[in-house]
Amino acid sequence: MSNKTTVISKELLEQQFEYCDKVAAYWRERETAPKAYVETYGCQQNEADSEKIRGYLTQSGYTITDTAEGADVVVMNTCAIREHAEQRVFGNLGALVHTKRRHPGQKIFLCGCMAGEEIVSTRIKNSYHHVDGVFSTHHLWQFPEILYNVLSKGKRQFYVADEAGSIAEGIPQVRDHKLKSWVSIMYGCNNFCTYCIVPYVRGRERSRQPEDILSECKTLIAAGCKEITLLGQNVNSYGKDLEQKIDFSDLLAQIAQLEGEFLIRFMTSHPRDAGQKLFDTMAKYPKIAKQLHLPFQSGSSRVLKAMNRHYDREKYLAAVAYAKSVMPELVLTSDVIVGFPGETAEEFEETLTLIEQVRYDALFTFIFSPRHGTPAASMDDPTPKEEKNRRFDRLCALQNRISEEIHAAYVGKTMRCLVDGQDGDHLTARTEGGRLVRFAGDGALIGTYQNITITGSTTWSLTGKMQNAECRMQS
Ligand code: SAH
Ligand code: SF4
Ligand code: F3S
Repeated sequence: MSNKTTVISKELLEQQFEYCDKVAAYWRERETAPKAYVETYGCQQNEADSEKIRGYLTQSGYTITDTAEGADVVVMNTCAIREHAEQRVFGNLGALVHTKRRHPGQKIFLCGCMAGEEIVSTRIKNSYHHVDGVFSTHHLWQFPEILYNVLSKGKRQFYVADEAGSIAEGIPQVRDHKLKSWVSIMYGCNNFCTYCIVPYVRGRERSRQPEDILSECKTLIAAGCKEITLLGQNVNSYGKDLEQKIDFSDLLAQIAQLEGEFLIRFMTSHPRDAGQKLFDTMAKYPKIAKQLHLPFQSGSSRVLKAMNRHYDREKYLAAVAYAKSVMPELVLTSDVIVGFPGETAEEFEETLTLIEQVRYDALFTFIFSPRHGTPAASMDDPTPKEEKNRRFDRLCALQNRISEEIHAAYVGKTMRCLVDGQDGDHLTARTEGGRLVRFAGDGALIGTYQNITITGSTTWSLTGKMQNAECRMQS
C-alpha cells in the first residue's frame, strides 16, 4: 500500500458544506429548530472527532443538547478498544429504541471505531433497525451528506468501506473547552500491536501538514487557549509520510516557539521511537509540559515481543532513565495490559518490578480483551479469568501505593498551576505535570495561572491553598 497521504480536496469539502445548507433548509421548510446530541466514548481522538461532528451539526442549523431525549439527531461516537467498551455502546444503543419511540422523527447514527468493524456494521444492519446511519472514521468528513441522505431519502445509510484513510482540513469544530484544546497532528496507526484493533479501524498513519497544525495552534492561542494537547496514536511517527523532512521533535520545537502563554502536551508516545531527541526537545522548551505518557504494556521482553511492540524491557528502562536525567521533574504515566495470552506468573512479576523501578505517577491498567481479527485473539490463553483478576488487583494495589507516595511528596511544595474549572465549592487546577489540584478560590480565577501551595494529597489528586490568597481577598 502506498504511504502517500490522501488529502480531501477543498472542492469535496465545499460539497459537504452545501449539504449542511441543504439540511438547514430542510428544517427551515418545516419551521423547526432542530436539536442534536453527540455521545462520545473512548479516547481523546474520539473527543476531537466529536468536536468536528458538532461543528458540522451546528453549521447545519442544529443546537447541541446534552440528552438524547427529544433530540432530532443522536450520534454515538464509539470505541472498540475492549469488549466491555463495545457492550456499553450496544446497551445504550438498544435503549435508544425507547427515546426514538417517544420522538419518532429521531435519526440515530453510529460512528467512530466500532463502525470500522465489519461485524459491528453487519450486526447493526440486521438487528438494530432503529439506527439510521453508520459511518466509520474514514467517512466522518462526509457526515453532512450522510445526514442529508437519511433525512431526504428516508433510507438507512452505511458508509463503512475499508480504506487506508485520508486527511480533511477545514471541517468546522465546536470545541468542548476554551482553555484546553485537542489538536490532532496525525491519524491512524501502522504499528499493529497484536492485541490492538486501532490500525484496523483507523487506517494507516497520515500526518497533517506542519503549516496547518501551526496555524490551528496560533488561532487557539489567540482565542485564549492555555493548553494544547497534540494527538496521535503514535506521535513519534509524525512526518514519516510527508515529503517535507520533519519529525515530531521538530514540530514540537516549532509550536513551542509560538508567542503567548500556553503549555503543550502530547499523547501517545510509543517507546519504540521515543528517543533522546524528543526528550532533549522537551527539556529545552519551557512551553512543553514536563509530562510524558509512555505506555509500556508489559515488563517482560518475551511478552513485548509477542505483542509486536518493537522494544524490550531494557530499551524501555533506558529511555525512561534518559528522560528523567534531562527532566528531573518529569511526570510519567503509562498503560499496562495484564493477562496477555500466555503471560506466565513470572512474566507478570516482571511487570510489577518494572512499575516499582520506574515509579509512575499514574497508570492506566487493562485486562487483556480479545479483539476480533487481531492476532492475539487467536493465541493460546490458558490463564483462568480469576487468576488474571488476582494479578490485576495486585498491580492496582502496587500502583495506588506508589501514586499515594508520589502525591504525598508534593505536600509543602508551591506549584504554578492553570486554574481550569470548578468542582462543587472548590476550584480545580492542573500542575505542569497534569496532576489535579483542588483549592478554595474565586471563580474569576479560572483561566489564570496561580501559585498554589500543596497542603494535602490522595492517590488521585492534591489539595492546595493559593499562595497569595489573603492579598487577593483584601484587594
Ligand atoms: N496508541 C496508544 C494506545 C491506544 S489504546 C499506544 O500505543 O500506546 C490505549 C490502551 O489500551 C493501550 O495502550 C493498551 O494498554 C490498551 N489496550 C489496547 N488494546 C487492548 C486490548 N485488546 N485489551 C486490553 N487493553 C488494550
Ligand atoms: Fe494500538 Fe499499538 Fe497502534 Fe497503540 S501503537 S494504537 S497500541 S497498534
Ligand atoms: Fe477507542 Fe478508537 Fe480511541 S478504539 S481508544 S476510540 S482510537
